[in-house]
Amino acid sequence: MQSLLTATRSNQLSLGKRAFSSSVSRWQAVPQQKPVLMKEFKIYRWNPDQPEKKPELESFKIDLNQTGPMVLDALIKIKNEVDPTLTFRRSCREGICGSCAMNIDGQNTLACLCRIDREGSKDTKIYPLPHMYVVKDLVPDMTLFYKQYKSIQPWLQNDNPPSGTEHLQSPEDRKKLDGMYECILCACCSTSCPSYWWNQDEYLCPATLMQAYRWLADSRDTNGAERREKLQNEMSLYRCHTIFNCSRTCPKGLNPAQAIAQLKLELATE
Ligand code: SF4
Ligand code: SF4
Ligand code: FES
Repeated sequence: MQSLLTATRSNQLSLGKRAFSSSVSRWQAVPQQKPVLMKEFKIYRWNPDQPEKKPELESFKIDLNQTGPMVLDALIKIKNEVDPTLTFRRSCREGICGSCAMNIDGQNTLACLCRIDREGSKDTKIYPLPHMYVVKDLVPDMTLFYKQYKSIQPWLQNDNPPSGTEHLQSPEDRKKLDGMYECILCACCSTSCPSYWWNQDEYLCPATLMQAYRWLADSRDTNGAERREKLQNEMSLYRCHTIFNCSRTCPKGLNPAQAIAQLKLELATE
């Protein structure tokens, strides 16, 4: 009986195998070779080790069908396969770390969130964020930006925090932080702001001002008076002329100009 079962099982397997292999040979998809789609990227190059050489746009042509869909994918392909000296910042590859901010075809944005324009006849020009000192190629010097951010003391300050329990907020108070806490400090907005271009040393820039308001708007923070006092001067806040470049350019869809307007209102009515 046992041998009969074994024979039947083995027949089923071999039948199954025959049926399977014949269907594979008939239906198996043969991968199609995608046509070549060449695209030119013109990328800003400057090397501090060759100070005598002026900055220039260098041209790279790559096949879009051999790379991912985003500008960051193209930059990584160029760095990996064409020129390992090409320098740019990146980390998360999904719009979270803010490090791949650059100017792509005239717009400050994140390279990892910016789709490549697949129109092959049009080149794509890539520069570092504008009006910043350049460390190398597409890497801007963010020292001043971070210094300004630090100056607003971007952390919760409370004279009398609850001990041994969570520091709670009502859902309504928590909601007031929406649209501000999501900022990833990429500086796309700040470097598109004409007021920041011309008064970088003193004007705090949209990203920093939005965070200044984020802490003022936090119901758990008790340092509002001092925070407001620091902004009550001609330059830190009031250089904003409500041009809205900042909100137009934010790759995260945030609205720093509106936060600045709220900040001005709060200072005017305190
Ligand atoms: S609205 Fe204010 S912060 Fe925004 S770009 Fe204009 S001047 Fe700069
Ligand atoms: S507001 Fe937007 S553009 Fe400005 S730093 Fe934050 S995420 Fe970047
Ligand atoms: S790589 Fe992190 S935001 Fe683009």
